[in-house]
Parts: sequence; C-alpha cells; structure tokens
Amino acid sequence: MDREKMEKVEVSVKTTDPLGSSAEGLVVGVWDDGRMAQDFRKRLDAVLSGEVSRIIDNGEFKGASGDVLFLPTMGKLPTRYLILSGLGAKNKTSPESIRKLTGTVAKMARSRNLASLASTLLLNDAGDPENVSEAIVEGALLALYRFDHYKSDDGEKKGKGKKSSSAAKDFSSLTLYASRETEKKAKNGIEWARAIVRGTYLARDLGNHPANVATPTMIAQNASSEAKKRGIRFVSYDREKLEEMGLGALVGVAKGSMEPARLIQLEYRPAKAVNAKPVLLVGKTLTFDSGGISLKPAEKMETMKGDMSGGAAVLGTMMSIADLKIPLWVVGLMPATENMPSGTANKPGDVLRAFNGKTIEVINTDAEGRLILADALSWGVKNFDPALVIDLATLTGAVTVALGAHAIGVLGNDQKRMKEVLETGEKVGERGWQLPMFEEYFEQIKSPIADVQNVGGRGGGTITAAAFLSHFVDDKPWVHLDIAGTAWVESDEPYKPKGNVGIGIRLLTHYLDRLAQDKDLRKPEKRPSGKK
Ligand code: BES
Ligand code: MN
Ligand code: ZN
Repeated sequence: MDREKMEKVEVSVKTTDPLGSSAEGLVVGVWDDGRMAQDFRKRLDAVLSGEVSRIIDNGEFKGASGDVLFLPTMGKLPTRYLILSGLGAKNKTSPESIRKLTGTVAKMARSRNLASLASTLLLNDAGDPENVSEAIVEGALLALYRFDHYKSDDGEKKGKGKKSSSAAKDFSSLTLYASRETEKKAKNGIEWARAIVRGTYLARDLGNHPANVATPTMIAQNASSEAKKRGIRFVSYDREKLEEMGLGALVGVAKGSMEPARLIQLEYRPAKAVNAKPVLLVGKTLTFDSGGISLKPAEKMETMKGDMSGGAAVLGTMMSIADLKIPLWVVGLMPATENMPSGTANKPGDVLRAFNGKTIEVINTDAEGRLILADALSWGVKNFDPALVIDLATLTGAVTVALGAHAIGVLGNDQKRMKEVLETGEKVGERGWQLPMFEEYFEQIKSPIADVQNVGGRGGGTITAAAFLSHFVDDKPWVHLDIAGTAWVESDEPYKPKGNVGIGIRLLTHYLDRLAQDKDLRKPEKRPSGKK
C-alpha cells in the first residue's frame, strides 16, 4: 500500500476476549515448546476439535521464530483464519523478531486478500509491552509498503483482468489485544509506530522514485510541505546563495549537473525543548550518483538514485519527532544535488574550498558524498553551535565489504554518544557496528597540495571517509553513520520490500527521545533569584 492507504489503516487496542475477534485473521503466538498465551491452546482445541494440538504435537508447526501457519476456522470461530505464529525460544524473542514475524504474517494475509488482522502477541509476554506493540504495528505496516506509483496496472489489483471478484481489498484494520495493565503502553507503542512508519514511508518513496523525479527541488518541496504541517521551520538555499555563503564543496559537486542543487534546512524547536544547544542531523541527499567524471560502471548504477537515503532519514526523523512531540531542539540539514559528468563538472585534481576554509583536492569525483557533507557539517556547526552532530550517509561501498547488509557503520569522535547509538540500534532493530579511527587512517587522506584529499587509497575506505569528515566538525561531539550497506535491499525481507529501506528513522527517533532525557544536554536549571 501507499502512504495514503497506510494512514487510513485503523490500528486499535482491545481488552476483550481475542477469540471473539471478527478480524479476518487472528494471530496467536506459539513458543517453540508449544505453549500459547493464557488458556488459548485449551480453548482453541475445544472449538477446533483438538486440531491445534494435533498440528503442534505432530511437529507440523514447531513454533520456531518466524514460522507461520494459516488455519481456516471453518466457521468455528468468528475469525476466518487462525494464524499460528512462531515466537521461538522464550528468552530469545526481541522486538525485532516480532517485527519480522508480523511482517511475514501481514504479507501472507495480503496474498489471501485479508483486510483485517488481530494480534494477540502482546499477551505472550514477549517483552516490554510498549516495544512489542510498536514492533507489531511497524512489522505489519512496513511490510505492506509497496511502491507501484509508475505501474499503470495497479500491482495491488493483480488478476483484475479476469473480471472476477478477486480485486484486492485494501488492508484496513489491525487490532492489538492487550490486558488492562498493558493497554496504555500498547497505545503508546502504536503512536510511536505510526509516527515512525509515516516518516519511513516518505523516505522510502523519495528513495524509490527515480532521479528524474526525486530531484533536489522535489525533495525540497516534500520537506517544505511536511515541515509546514508540523510547525518545523523550513529554509532552502539555492545555488546562488550557496556560493555566496561559501559552500564551495557542495557547489563544486553540483556544477556538473543541470539540476539545481539545494541545501535544505529544517528546524524543530518545540517550546518545551529541554536542551540549550540543538542536536544537528546532517543527511547526504545525493539524488543521483553517476560518479561524475570518475564515472561508475553501468551495472547497478540505477540504484544510485538511492544515494539520498541519509537525507531522507533526516526528513523522516524530523517528521516523526515532531509528531511524537519529543521535547528536543533539533536541526536537520540536507545537502541535495546530483553528481554528474559534464563539461562543467569537477575534474580529478580540482581543488575546492569548503565553508570552513579548508581546501580539498578532489582525487576521485565519485567520492562526492563527503564533499557535500563537508560543507553541510561545517556550516551547521558554525551556525547552530550544536551539542551533538549526527550525520547519515550512503557514503562508501567499503562499508558493505566490512559489514555486509546487516549493520550500519558507526564512527565518530565521541565514544559515549557512539555507544548510546549502538545500544539504541540494538534495541530497535537497526544495528550498527563501530569501526576504529586510528591516527594512521588520517595519514591516508593527506594531500600534497591541499589541506586534505577526498580519497584515502586502498584499505579502510569507510574509515578514511569518516576521517575526512572529521575535518569539518570542529571539536563538536559527532557520530557518523555509514548506511551504504543498509539503505537498500535487493530482495524482499520480512518487513523490507525490495528497494529503499528507509533506514535510520527508527534508530534516530528513539535515540533523540533518549537524548531528551539526557542530563548533560539539558538546559541549566534556573536558580531562584537572589542566590548566586
Ligand atoms: N554513493 C557512493 C557509495 C555507495 C556505494 C552507496 C554503493 C551505496 C552503494 C559513494 O558516493 C561512492 O561512490 N563512494 C566511493 C568512494 C571511493 C571513490 C573512494 C566508493 O565507495 O566506491
Ligand atoms: Mn560516489
Ligand atoms: Zn555517493
């Protein structure tokens, strides 16, 4: 489904008897020892002539994490399908395993044309109810995402040519069964999931739209309208202004392209913000990376329309923190441009001057992400004096060599903040892994003629890229997330359809919430007057 349909899905909590649910599918969690929540197994056996126990005892359904079995209820329960859903071993479930499980269930339900689901997974006591409820809703809604904007034959209406009644129904409702004690937390979890899913859907759309549509201008328009809905301050600097401001590295990358570049600035500053200095988010918004004069090979070049995923994550996060009213002052910067080869493009060997005055020798025009980030970072640091800087970028192919598609590369200059980001990632299922930044790596990017060069030669490509960025954050606490391996999936995963993942929004939204409770970031308490 698309964004509009996703918003229309009704997600609610009930505390009545789940076996009375009239949703078309009823999800019942089964542990790998065959146990279910409450007295469900006994009651289901009673209604379904012992079939559930036969299936489990016979080993047809093992309850391994991710196992799913749809059982038609033949009118013996109000629901049409009882959906046995494997939770695995009791101490091994996590919100992430539940997100995947529910994602799998939701897609199977869609293929059966079911429009409503009810889940009893909260009753399985598989973790903090708020996290579990968030995971259930995210799993379902993220899995049902589809990008069929350009299909003239609506992908969701496959088979409609037959003129049968098989036209797909839109998925319309998800009910979470909770206990009286967990009801409130379940509702909170739903609110979080909805905000995160909303941001993620937009980020996925921007990443899946081709580069002739998702241009810097189009992304700025989207950012502007989402900002307006939420009282986020929006500013967009165009090329002329960028030149005047001295963002020579961004302008340098942009000058090979006909598509006007932008620096998009979003500022969320709620009245109740607890921090005295903002948190600065910077996201690489490279709408198409051809490599420039250092042209990339043709194979898979089309996926380089997704080179704006860092910026999309910043936009999605700004939306979700505003929707959740997280009391934190946050500034988002999205340097947006194409990287194209042309007669006006940067050439290998050219020297650019970044906003902070440092000169950069462009050895390889395909290492353009760090150039546009150099300007956005140094400009953001100077103008906002942030308490913390976090950047996200599809920066290096090398991060995929190092970590594959299963972890974000985490680097930076502040061990405490990096550790916190890693912890949050583990908790919310967007994992990272830290890479070292030993001094030797900085040697690799020394230029014979300029302050720094934009590539570091063989070896440690993700690290030398981060070393390069460190020249542009002053001494500010800074965390860099290399999402080149995690922003895109080549085949369907439980809640990630092939294409853009919308990575980073869940991680950042939760991390910013954690920062809102951080003592070190808080404004100094106002002392009662008179006492000094
Ligand atoms: N956008 C790419 C990195 C990338 C590669 C993202 C694969 C997603 C998938 C980046 O601009 C780039 O081209 N990096 C070069 C750097 C090299 C020239 C030092 C790379 O990784 O090859
Ligand atoms: Mn590149
Ligand atoms: Zn790039």
